[in-house]
Amino acid sequence: MKHTVYVTRKIPDEALQMLTSRFHVRMWEKEETPVPRSVLEEEIQEVDGLYCLLTEEINEGLLKKAKNLKIISNMAVGYNNIDVEAASKRKIMVTNTPGVLTETTADLTFALLMATARRIVEASDYLRENKWKTWSPMQLTGQDVYGATLGIIGLGRIGEAVARRAKGFNMNILYHNHNRKKDAEAELGVTYKEKEALLKESDFVVLLTPYTQETHYLIDEEELALMKKNTILINSARGGIVNETALYNALVNGEIWAAGLDVFEKEPVDRNHPLLTLPNVVTLPHIGSASKATRMKMAIMAAEHIVQALHGETPTHLVNE
Ligand code: DGY
Repeated sequence: MKHTVYVTRKIPDEALQMLTSRFHVRMWEKEETPVPRSVLEEEIQEVDGLYCLLTEEINEGLLKKAKNLKIISNMAVGYNNIDVEAASKRKIMVTNTPGVLTETTADLTFALLMATARRIVEASDYLRENKWKTWSPMQLTGQDVYGATLGIIGLGRIGEAVARRAKGFNMNILYHNHNRKKDAEAELGVTYKEKEALLKESDFVVLLTPYTQETHYLIDEEELALMKKNTILINSARGGIVNETALYNALVNGEIWAAGLDVFEKEPVDRNHPLLTLPNVVTLPHIGSASKATRMKMAIMAAEHIVQALHGETPTHLVNE
């Protein structure tokens, strides 16, 4: 008997065909609207496989309704949207899509860093709003990237890829991680620091750590107070790592210089969110991995995991302990 799979958003045809050629597939066909909770609660009851995105909260309450579920395949490297412990308890496999998005996300992180340091968005708006009347010595001046000190919190695959880019900019690279990475230190010339020391010394603090209970509000009032007045905070990991109210206050009070945010605690971020009113904040709609090629690879990898699991194999990127 054919297995059934539910896909929570319209995915590329190449990935969809991998599923439709083998299984009964139902899909939430809309691209711009997430599947309503009531629909997901209904669909999950009988399916063997769930193909989902980071926009779906797969919690214990939902899993309780799933009678046949064997695999949850998340089309993202982060999987904080899934209660993995609750899934494991029910012997449901959970997979993510690491590796294929590393360089693309590192590109975006570095782009955000540079855009924030050199006030690219603000300068572009300045021109378009007809404010550019003349060249002037201190007009729209920003911070140098070349030769500055970069502090990476979370030196995983993406963190290392950012460090490789930073080397080309002759940056002094510090990192903080739950474990020290001697290989990366030797290969990339990065220096391990305790969190406090990293925050005190860095001109740029880049957050690339997974979002867990331990990293919730890792950057709060106290941490922001340790940073230098010229520090630029970049978050391309998960919004909940930063206390946004504390960040807003630190920016308004001049405790730090600017922030570049690709992620928010609540997504999509409210159009009236205070952080969106500040000229020294560059904001993006969670596009870290958004290149055509990478999103295609992620979509296909997530489909492969479903195929592997429902064919009785261990999926390549299993995250259950
Ligand atoms: C992820 O994969 O976790 C990113 O946030 C989206 O690509």
